[in-house]
Parts: sequence; C-alpha cells; structure tokens
Amino acid sequence: MVVVMSPEATDEDIARVVERVESVGGEAFVSKGVVRTIIGLVGDIESFHHLNLRTLRGVADVHRISDPYKLVSRQHHPDRSTVWVGRPGQQVPIGPDTVTFIAGPCAVESAQQTLEAAQMARSAGATILRGGAYKPRTSPYAFQGLGVAGLEILADVREATGLPVVTEVVDVRDVAVVAEYADMLQIGTRNAANFGLLQAVGEAGKPVLLKRGMTATIEEWLMAAEYIAQRGNLDVVLCERGIRTFEPATRNTLDISAVPVVQAASHLPVIVDPSHAAGRKDLVVPLSRAAIAVGADGVIVDVHPKPEVALCDGPQALEGAELRELAQAMRRFPELVGRQPA
Ligand code: E4P
Ligand code: PEP
Repeated sequence: MVVVMSPEATDEDIARVVERVESVGGEAFVSKGVVRTIIGLVGDIESFHHLNLRTLRGVADVHRISDPYKLVSRQHHPDRSTVWVGRPGQQVPIGPDTVTFIAGPCAVESAQQTLEAAQMARSAGATILRGGAYKPRTSPYAFQGLGVAGLEILADVREATGLPVVTEVVDVRDVAVVAEYADMLQIGTRNAANFGLLQAVGEAGKPVLLKRGMTATIEEWLMAAEYIAQRGNLDVVLCERGIRTFEPATRNTLDISAVPVVQAASHLPVIVDPSHAAGRKDLVVPLSRAAIAVGADGVIVDVHPKPEVALCDGPQALEGAELRELAQAMRRFPELVGRQPA
C-alpha cells in the first residue's frame, strides 16, 4: 500500500502516518520528493484498512498495490486450475487444456422439452447440460421455473443422456436441495453480489459456475469468487456473460477482453455465455468463435426444441442450422488454439 501526502503536508503529518502504521505492526518507508512525499507500507493490509489513513491530515490518497483477492489469485496458485464436473468416472474437465461445451434450455419447462433440448445439445457435441429450475426473472409475473420438479426432470435427463447437469440456485434456502440434484451450482448475474448465497454455495460440496455480475468490475467478480473459495470451495468456474453498457444493439456487451485479463489474474477457468451476452441467436456462433479464439475454457449456450414457444429467452436459443453451425465451430476451433474439445 502506498500513502501519497499532499504538497502541504508537514513533517508532523508524515510522522503521524508512520506512527499509526507502526502501531499495528507495519513498516513505513518514507520517500520525500520535491513536491510530495510518498510512504510505502509493508505489513498486514487489512490492519492498514482499519487505520482509515485517508482521514489523517496531510494525506492526499491511499493506493492498494497488491490484489484484494487471495485464494483465487495466481499469486496463490500460479498454475491454471481445472474443475471437474460430474460423477466419479464420468467427469468432464473445464480448464486450460480443453474447450468445454455446455448447452441446454434456458429454463426447464417440461420433461419432454428438457429431454429434447438435452439430445440436441449432446448431438451438437455438448458434454454438460445446462437448464434452470429456478429462474431469476425481471418480472414477478414471468415464469419463475418449476423448482424441485424441474430438478427432478434434470436428474432424469442426466440418467437418459449421461450429461452432468449445471443449474442455477437463486436463494440460500434452496442450496441444499439444488446441490442434492445438480452436478454444478450456477450463480447468476443477478446474484453475483449476494454474499450470503456465495458463502452458502461455497459450503455445498459441488463445483460452482459463477456468472459475472452485469455491472461488476473484474475485481468485484473475483472478490465474489473469493467469497466461495474462502468457504473451502476452489472448484469455481467463472463465466463472462456480458455487461451493461450504453449500447442497446445487444442485450449486454460481451466483454471479450475480460477472458485473458481474468486468466492472467486468477487460476480459475473462464468460460463465456454468448447467449445471455447477445440476447440474439444470430450472434451466438460468432461470439462463440471469438470466445475460443481469445482463450476461453468453454462456452455455455441456450438451445431449445421450439424457441418460438420458450417460456424464457426464446430469441437467443439455438436450434436447426444455427446449432449445426455451432457444433461445427466447437469441433474445429479448439484445435486451432491448441486445445481439445472436452
Ligand atoms: C435467463 O436465464 C434469465 O432468467 C433471464 O435472462 C431473465 O431475464 P428476463 O426476466 O428479463 O426475461
Ligand atoms: C442463465 O444462464 O440462466 C441466466 C439467468 O444467466 P445470467 O445470470 O447470466 O443472466
């Protein structure tokens, strides 16, 4: 941490900063410039926070140098991690050597629709099934998901297709039941700063797919992952799903640069959701190609047997020719970046 003193700061002001830092066991290295003095702090950063150094007379600014996240950082774990999803013996990797293809319906609507969507996903090459039994909707009048009945459908479809299941949990009270059925728990964009929920999934004993909050900076997103890791769960996969910007042409703006930025900062795998980013099916294939090209560890996409009657997010769901095009890209592109389809 570095404390920048204002040009008017006196020797007494500087001495007060040094004294406060030393009072919590830290070291302060004073460097006097022609106009300003800066003080480098070495020691426990959390105890420096409690000193409220910015409130002291003569202090102009306080800068953090090291990252606030620890367990998810590459300083803690220099090699990139692989997270395994599914039952022992049938596990699917998400990590640096592969490109994992996750697909399925946005929402579980019925047994028939989910099975058909899962078969479409598997035929296209997907190895993990997505599908929401609990839907976080903008409107309380919109379809909210089938709840436990939806989880049962997902479990049956897993039996029928062999695909492990990732599904969203939106409420702390549902974590135990979702963890009982699912192979991986998803935290959606709307709950990416629900710290109690993050802690609860950190204790649920299943891998977690953590979407980026739609207004979250990369640091806030990694701090959300830190909440999960801090509860003992390092099996976290990060998902870039687009952020809110001024641009209305797409539902969100896919922050493609977030993929390599996060991979440099964190050892956790990073995948991309082009469906929720774009909100339009015509952009899902190009954005999936971009995701693989930029180094994403996987993509997660919405598919639906009848998008025109989907109860949630129909306009972004793939079927037919577009799904075939995606399948081809998912087969061909990983090799171009030195990876295998998972
Ligand atoms: C999908 O999975 C979400 O529940 C959906 O994107 C929510 O958006 P909406 O409720 O505004 O349609
Ligand atoms: C989803 O994947 O079902 C979903 C709701 O996505 P997001 O949280 O990214 O909007």
